[in-house]
Amino acid sequence: MTAFPYRKGVLHAEGVPLSAIADAVGTPTYVYSARALTERFREVTDAFEGHPHLLCYSVKANSNLAILRLFAGLGVGSGFDIVSGGELARVKQAGGDPSKTVFAGVGKTPDEMAQALDAGILLFNVESAEELEALDAVGRRLGKRAPFALRVNPDVDARTHRYISTGLKTSKFGVPFEEALALYARAKKLKGVKALGLDCHIGSQLTRTAPMRAAISKVAELYVALKARGHALEYLDVGGGLGITYSDETPPSPQEYARTVLAATESTGATLLLEPGRALVGNAGVLLTRVLYRKPTASRTFVVVDAGMNDLLRPALYEAHHALQPLVKRRGRAVEVDVVGPVCESTDVLARARPLVLPRQDDLYAFMSAGAYGMSMASTYNSRPRPAEVLVDGEAWRVVRERERVEDLWRGERA
Ligand code: LLP
Repeated sequence: MTAFPYRKGVLHAEGVPLSAIADAVGTPTYVYSARALTERFREVTDAFEGHPHLLCYSVKANSNLAILRLFAGLGVGSGFDIVSGGELARVKQAGGDPSKTVFAGVGKTPDEMAQALDAGILLFNVESAEELEALDAVGRRLGKRAPFALRVNPDVDARTHRYISTGLKTSKFGVPFEEALALYARAKKLKGVKALGLDCHIGSQLTRTAPMRAAISKVAELYVALKARGHALEYLDVGGGLGITYSDETPPSPQEYARTVLAATESTGATLLLEPGRALVGNAGVLLTRVLYRKPTASRTFVVVDAGMNDLLRPALYEAHHALQPLVKRRGRAVEVDVVGPVCESTDVLARARPLVLPRQDDLYAFMSAGAYGMSMASTYNSRPRPAEVLVDGEAWRVVRERERVEDLWRGERA
């Protein structure tokens, strides 16, 4: 059931009318539903019940401390998938467990590696031969063996937007599949690292099971081959990528996703690591915005709102679709409008050619499905302070990040 229902024509987050939040906190503001976050986490982890696995929530999707803390407290405690020292610090700050955290990314610095090793991280997902050597050096310097999985590139087309596809051999991610055996053999000779797993991730917003099955089966075969060669692997990390519905997509359900992953990995006996991001938070968040002006022109009708591409980058960057819903339903004939932000860029179009009952000035709207890669990709471009964030839980709500202040914009600068 949606966490954002209409009641008597008024859009709510759980038990709270969203207009009450907009009036109290202002706009633009991100609003998340604790219930939606919790239910989705449980649904995904329950789908793998009976099979050794750990959900490592992909922090980049939404790194607010309140969300990290909520996940860390669910079930056996969520693990995390991080890509920087900054994300590691967030996980620690939110009370997350580094020993359930995996560290991916093609450009980890030796400093970041040392911080993570010190913190007792579960696995480094290593993405190149040179990175393996660097990790070995860090491990030896700290007198530890850094646990790692090699991220292999299975060369499978994830059939998603090319900007969020990562598993093709032309992509910068992972090591070529054919080089994996040699790299594990090399790692055996190194004193600062210890092979503990194997990893892949083919892309994001995946809506079909066939590419997942193809990639994960290929990687599972490699896992078995590595075990047969005497590598003491325990973890098979299948990455993230499970898609969500933004408009009319029909991604696999968590249960279907689990069936696909489990069938492909059956032969391995590995503990599965899963790195969902969007699937856990995407539909648990909305972005509230207020109409500033209407601008009818000969060719189009523009609706100018107070949220821009700096607040929600996905439409400008990926031509992504976010449904737009009025906080108070209005009757009337729909006209086709372009909903645009205030940023001085032609790509600052948040919703293009949408049928909408022509709003009035000050009307409030919600961009739906904005919980993932919304706030985490927000910037201060055009010197626009970033939005506030609110977490709703039942009838209660609280600000979990204050709206950035204008003085924050030049913090650290010297005139
Ligand atoms: N694991 C790895 C290694 C990743 O690179 C990613 C996402 C994830 C897990 C989580 O993927 P998810 O379950 O959220 O699909 N900014 C883009 C998405 C970029 C995804 C980057 N990597 C967007 O707004 O669509």
